[in-house]
Parts: sequence; C-alpha cells; structure tokens
Amino acid sequence: MSQLAKPLIAIAAVITLAVCVHADTLANCTYEDIRGTWVFELGPSYKEGSGENCSPTSEIAVQYKVKVHLDYPDLAVDEFGNQGFWTIIYNQGFEVVVGGSKYFGFSEFKSKTVSICDKVKPGWAHDVLGHDRRCFQGQKQSPAIKLNKRISYASSLRYEQFISSEDMVTRINKAQKSWTATTYPQFDALSRDDFVRMTGGKRSQMLSRPKPAPITEEQEKLRQSLPSSFDWRKVNGQNFVSPVRNQGACGSCYAFASMAMAESRLRILTNNTQKHVFAPQDIVECSPYSQGCEGGFPYLIGGKYGEDFGFVEEKCNLYKGTDAKCSTEKSCARNYVTDYKYVGGYYGACNEVAMMEAIYNRGPVAIGFMVYNDFTRYQSGVYHHVFDSENHPFEPFELTNHAVLVVGWGEVTSPSYERYWIVKNSWGETWGMDGYFWIRRGNDECGMESMAVESTPIVRFD
Ligand SMILES: *[C@@H]1O[C@H](CO)[C@@H](O)[C@H](O)[C@H]1NC(C)=O
Ligand SMILES: *[C@@H]1O[C@H](CO)[C@@H](O)[C@H](O)[C@H]1NC(C)=O
Repeated sequence: MSQLAKPLIAIAAVITLAVCVHADTLANCTYEDIRGTWVFELGPSYKEGSGENCSPTSEIAVQYKVKVHLDYPDLAVDEFGNQGFWTIIYNQGFEVVVGGSKYFGFSEFKSKTVSICDKVKPGWAHDVLGHDRRCFQGQKQSPAIKLNKRISYASSLRYEQFISSEDMVTRINKAQKSWTATTYPQFDALSRDDFVRMTGGKRSQMLSRPKPAPITEEQEKLRQSLPSSFDWRKVNGQNFVSPVRNQGACGSCYAFASMAMAESRLRILTNNTQKHVFAPQDIVECSPYSQGCEGGFPYLIGGKYGEDFGFVEEKCNLYKGTDAKCSTEKSCARNYVTDYKYVGGYYGACNEVAMMEAIYNRGPVAIGFMVYNDFTRYQSGVYHHVFDSENHPFEPFELTNHAVLVVGWGEVTSPSYERYWIVKNSWGETWGMDGYFWIRRGNDECGMESMAVESTPIVRFD
C-alpha cells in the first residue's frame, strides 16, 4: 500500500503495537505534596510464599506505628533520628528506606478528579533483607488533597480522524529533515477506538511532566571523559544487548524495558557468558507492583519487583500479551537484582550526563517518555516531536507514557549537528531501525531524560 522500507510480517488484523499507560493509578501527587511528616501504620508479619500479600485494598490490623519525616532532596529521618532515603515514583507513589526497612505504596485518589496525596493506600513494607514482610498504610500529618485538571481528548481525536496515515507521513517528512516517517499497516488496521484503547485512551493521562536536573560543572567535566559515541551492541566487537521483542497489544512495555535492562546487564557482568531472556508475562500476570497490560513503572519492575521477587526465564511463562492469573512455573529459578534507583539517585536528579555515566559504566538504562502519534510512524534518523499544538491542532494521544531501553548514544553532523540516544523499542524488529530508534539527546525530548532507572542484577551460577 505504500513505500515500506522493510517487508512487514502480515499477521492479519492482529494489532502488533501498543504503548504503555498507567490506568488505575490516577493520583497526581508531586514532590511537594508528599514531602513532610508521615505516620506509617504496620500490620502483622507474613511469610514470603505463604500466599499472603498486600494489595491496595488490604485491611490492615495495625500492630505498630512509625513516624518518618521526608525532607529535601531525598532525606528521610525517623522518630529516632535515623537518616535514610526517599523518592517519589513518578506522581503515583513513593518509596522510603529508613531504619533498616523499606516502605512503598501508591498514593490515594478518589475517582479521576481528586488526588488524596496525604494518604498512601495499603502498601508493602519489609526490612531491607526481606525477612520481615508486612502491609502498611500511611497518613501525612498535614493535608495534601487536590483536584486534578481535566484533559480533553475530544477535539484532537476529531482532527486525527481527518488526516490519513499517508498524509501524516508526508507532512512529517516535509516539515523537517532529521528523521523519516513511514506508514505501518499495523496502525492502519486499527480502528480509532482500538488505537485509543491501546494507548490507554482516556485513562492514560500523564498528569505532570518532570524536568531533568541541571547539569553541574562536575558533570560537564565527566562528559569530556566519555566517548562521543557509544553502543552496547558494539563494544570490542561484541553485542551485549538481547534481541528485540514485540509486546503486542498489551501495555507491558515497562516489563519489556525492565527485562531488557536485566538481560543486557547480565551479559555485561558475565562477558556474554550468561544470555538470559526473561519472561514479561510473569510481570503482567504476577506483579503486585504494576497493572498488567494496563501499565506500570520501570522503577517498580526493573528495580523493586526484581529485588523482592526476581525474574524468571521466558520458558517459565511464555509471553501471551494478555492479563491472566499468575501461571508462572513454580519450580523456576528466580533471578534477582539490587541497588535499584532513579539515575542520579532519586526522582528529579536525572539528566543527560548522569544517564551517559550510568550506561557507560554499568549498562543500558530503562526510561519512560511521552509517545506522540508522529513517533509511531518513525522509520529512521534522529526523532524529535514534530508537531506542536499551536501550529497543528493535533496532540492526539499526548501524555501516554512508553518505557524503553537506552543502550548508547551518538551524534550526527548532517543535515545539522545533533546528539542522540540509541534506544531499543519493544514493537518488533520491523519497526524503526531493526526495532531501534534514535532520539534527540540533551534537551529532554519527550521527557526522556527525566526518569531513567537502573538496577544491578545478581549473577547466579548453576
Ligand atoms: C498535577 O500536579 C501539579 C502540581 O501540583 C500541577 O501543576 C498539575 O497541573 C497537575 N496536573 C493535573 C492534570 O491535575
Ligand atoms: C570476553 O570475551 C571475549 C570474547 O569471547 C574475549 O575475547 C575476552 O578476552 C573476554 N574478556 C575477559 C575479561 O575475559
């Protein structure tokens, strides 16, 4: 039907593409909403593997209380004066590590319109070694309740329907020279409603956009010591990145990006002698820290789930791309990670140089960024978002969030000088450049330098 760069495997009318969303988590709680003094109420201890677990709907029989003060920028202090760490997780919840215990929960909200930021839903508490596990709930000692703004999708959708895929590709390719767009029949086969649903539709709002931290003088010096281009697929003639996969019509990108980070970092740690491919379906079905095909966050999966539960090989739960009861083979070995964090240390401390340092010294990082409709048409070159709402009244599915793996960086000099990131997507090998894309580096394009996540796999020998 059009000038395709590569043959596309035609799986008749099967939707082969989805971006990720965060449904069911409609809180919009920012740093200042969370910062302050909290009381955490803890329930009884339960055994790992006992079938007991917490969930945001758990009833907690309070056994004891802990008072914690969360201060700038990432300092947590308990009632005994012990100092620890905290970070918000996007605008959905927060994690605190103090006095030898870790606490994580999602912020409370009421319908779509009210964020109850002074309350954490029942969440997960355990000592840092994972021996003593309990549910907890939290109440801030000063009020932080606010109304969410309403985001309307109606007008943009109408405009979207008006322009065809070919038109959009033509406009993108006319408007600029840094990247090339193409049509993908996968999208054209979709009804508008399906596309909206896949991108999370009306529930996929990304309610606020964080900014990267300013680059310090020290970081500028660090930049000079790093190569001008670097790619984990080509280090001393070796490829340390696992093959590109396809998430299908399930908002599981966060699981794919998280698995891909662990797979690549294990290849790096073992000089390519351990080439695992982990099971995103285990995350989709079994993780209490994410919402299955409705979305999730790399911090909580590539980090926290990897530390608390571990990852299993693909064969232990083959990818299906649908929500289901947890069916992971129980006898499968779990592969754990540790030292998970937002690049830079905490949410709000990430930037270009911090990401380069992490990638170069420890391996690929998982990131979240905003997917606009033009991105889905990407074929090659250095992507930047082409249309803005002032000149072109289409920001169709603005504010959906997609997670991917950054494996390196580079620069081009033509048509003009540009720095870029090299990024592995999970939309199959027929999308973009063999499943990869380049995107502008250094200006937080689509929010991608604001929330990179990393963790360290624990190598298993058996
Ligand atoms: C989310 O909260 C921030 C900070 O309070 C605010 O600026 C932003 O407009 C909010 N977004 C929505 C959609 O309510
Ligand atoms: C890593 O593997 C490569 C290729 O097999 C080999 O040439 C190299 O010596 C190994 N490096 C180390 C440190 O073992």
